[in-house]
This record gives sequence, structure tokens and C-alpha cells, in this order.
Amino acid sequence: MNQNLAILGGDPVRTRPWPEWPHVGPQDVERLRSVIESRNLGGIPFPNTLHQQFAEQFTSRLGARYGVLMTNGTVSLSVALRALGVHAGDEVITTGFTWIGTVAGIVHVNAVPVLADISDDNWCIDPAKVEESITDRTRAVMVVHLGNQVADMDALLDICRRHDLLLIEDCAHAHFAQWRGQCVGTIGDAGSYSFETSKIMTSGEGGFLVTGSEEAFHRAMSLVHVGRKEAPYDRFPGRVFGWNHRATEMQAAVLLGQLDQYDALDEQRTAMAELLTKGLTEIGGFLPLPDDPRVTRRQRYELLFRFDTDAWEGLHRDKVLEAILAEGVEFEGNTFYPPLHRDPLFHITADDWPAIRERYGEKISPDAFHLPVAERVAFDEAVWIHHSLLSVEPEDVQDMLDAVVKVRDNLGALRQSL
Ligand SMILES: Cc1ncc(COP(=O)(O)O)c(C=O)c1O
Repeated sequence: MNQNLAILGGDPVRTRPWPEWPHVGPQDVERLRSVIESRNLGGIPFPNTLHQQFAEQFTSRLGARYGVLMTNGTVSLSVALRALGVHAGDEVITTGFTWIGTVAGIVHVNAVPVLADISDDNWCIDPAKVEESITDRTRAVMVVHLGNQVADMDALLDICRRHDLLLIEDCAHAHFAQWRGQCVGTIGDAGSYSFETSKIMTSGEGGFLVTGSEEAFHRAMSLVHVGRKEAPYDRFPGRVFGWNHRATEMQAAVLLGQLDQYDALDEQRTAMAELLTKGLTEIGGFLPLPDDPRVTRRQRYELLFRFDTDAWEGLHRDKVLEAILAEGVEFEGNTFYPPLHRDPLFHITADDWPAIRERYGEKISPDAFHLPVAERVAFDEAVWIHHSLLSVEPEDVQDMLDAVVKVRDNLGALRQSL
């Protein structure tokens, strides 16, 4: 192997393409073909065959009571808040380290987002910071199970019970992850999932809401179906002004295939994640986050590592990852999430969302929040490895490890090039 770093003009470790994903097969094509030929394309009015089938299967495999399929995982957060009775002006505490969709789900119902810092152990919301952020306007906490992590649900449930707050779980990264043997999303008052293109289960776009409350479920059905209140989903007081968030029969067709292959792919991702973690731990420089035994099943939308600058002789994460990328291996750093309040997409003005005015004035300034852990982790430490790099064979993992070793062995040359 040519030992010159690819970033300095040498040959890359990996030139073969990575395996394609998402995994689709002839059965997916067949299911879609029969939907199209049936000319029965809409998801609801219910029941629509595949829509109903998927909603029932996904809900039951999660161990949830009620579930609703809808257009995406941002709106399922908004629907969760409205279905549970969060109103304009109510404050919702959420994490400062997540995708913008989490906070969009809050802002789009005219609620007021309050960002709390993350725990340095699991990079999910820090329960102590949640407690500090509670005011007499707080109605709910929205937790995100990030990457391959699960938030500390024991502490969060305890806080929410003591302060009479709703707990909503954003499980966009965490389909079927478990906390003490129970699927995330079924522990708080509602759980929300995304089936967007990059997710572990995908139909291009799609979202799902689960809840244990029959009333919230019926209200959610009405909310996604333009406010119609129709039997048998009519057991809630009054009416709602709804959206059209109906998912189609085509989305359900694809999702049924995703569900069928889930366990086999999960087994492969788990094996490859273990191999990669072992290899990276032996090499040094990428540290896995501490294992929490209360997480009884992990998912790996993104496998997370902490970049250990000392092991890279003080070079910044992004420079090292750039050199690894040139070797043909994409571990992401600054290209993934910035801290939410520093994200250019975090542009929330009172002209458009008047409920924020009382707390934040004309616009939510990034300076409204003090999130030192989220800033350090996002800007300097977090290394994200997408699950598509885990749906691979052991020789592919070896290429990843070879790329890391090659960069580590040529740090001097990399430094000189800066
Ligand atoms: C943590 C998190 N929350 C919410 C969302 C929003 O989901 P969607 O893209 O389906 O609207 C996403 C994904 O994009 C996400 O990663």
C-alpha cells in the first residue's frame, strides 16, 4: 500500500464503492407495483390496507398501545404536542444537540422552545439542566435519543412526575432501542419516529407517533386528517383544527418491507459496530461513550465516538477526519450537527412565531442559551459514523481501520501540510 496520505496526493485506502442502501428487494418492488395497480394510493381515510397493516405492526413491535403513521418526523412531534394538550405560549424544554426538526416540532405549534445542555456521558439532554430550566410556563420536556444513545429516562421521568410535565421522546434515531427492556418512545407520554431518507427505517419521508393515551391517539388521528372527528377515532372532548399530514399507501408499502428486514439488518449492524468499536479502541484516538447497562438494546443510526485530541498530537478533529475521508472513509464531524442555537437554520422570529416574544423578544438569539458541553462536543469532539457504514462485511470494517491507522501513522506529514 502506498503510505502517502491521499489528502497529500497518495492513493486512498478505499476505492471500491461502499454497499448500497437502503436495502430494497424484489418484494418491495412487487408490493409497490400492486399498490399502484390498485389505484388506491392515499393512506387514510382509514383503514387503508397497507397503512393500517404497517401502523398495527410497528405499534405492536414497539410494545406501544396506539400508533399513527404520518408524513414525517417533524410533524409527528408537533402532533404529539397538540394531541397531549400543549398550547401556544407553553414552554417545552429540549436538548441543545439535535437536528433542527426537534425544535421545529415545538415552534410550529407556537410553543416556546427552551434549550438545555447535554450530559457529557451520553450527549443527550442533561436531567439536571432540565430541572434548572423549569418555569411556571413549562408544560413539556422533549428528549432526543441521540445516535446510538438513550437519554437517562429514570431521571427524566422522575423530574416530569415531580413537576407535572409531559415527556415526549424524539426517537428519530432510535427505532427499537430499549431502556430497561422497554422500547424508547413507549416510556414517556408519546414517542415520535422519522422514516426520512437517512434513517434506520426509511420510506424517503415518513413519521410515526405512539402514545399510551386513547384520547391523545384519537386527537392525533383527527389532527393529521384535517380535523375530521370520525368514529371510531372520536373519543376526545371538543374539536381540533387539523393539518393534512396523511401518509400515502406507497410509504406504507415501503415501510412494511423495512420492518420485515429490520432484525436481520440490525444483527449485521450490531456485529459490525462491535468489530469497528473494538478496532478503534485498540488503535486509540476515538473513544466510545461509556456503556450504560440500563440501555438494554442499542440502535446505531449513528455510531458515536469522542475524538481524543491528545492521541492525535493536538490536531483538530476536522483535520483528521478530512484526511480519513480522503482515504475513502466518511466519519463525520462538523458536517453533522452544530449546537442547535448556533445552527444557521435556528432562525426563529416573533414576527412569525409570536409566542416567543415574551421570553426572547423579537428573535431567539443564540446568546439566550449557555450550552458549554454541547458546544465542545459539537465543535471539537463528536465523531458520527452513519449506519450505512455498518451494513457491511468485516473486510469493509478492516478498510475503515486501515484508513485510520494510515492517517495516525502519517500525522507528522499531515501536520506539516497545514
Ligand atoms: C433527532 C431528529 N428529530 C426529528 C427529525 C425530523 O424528522 P423528519 O426529517 O422525518 O421530519 C430528525 C430527522 O430528520 C431527527 O434526526
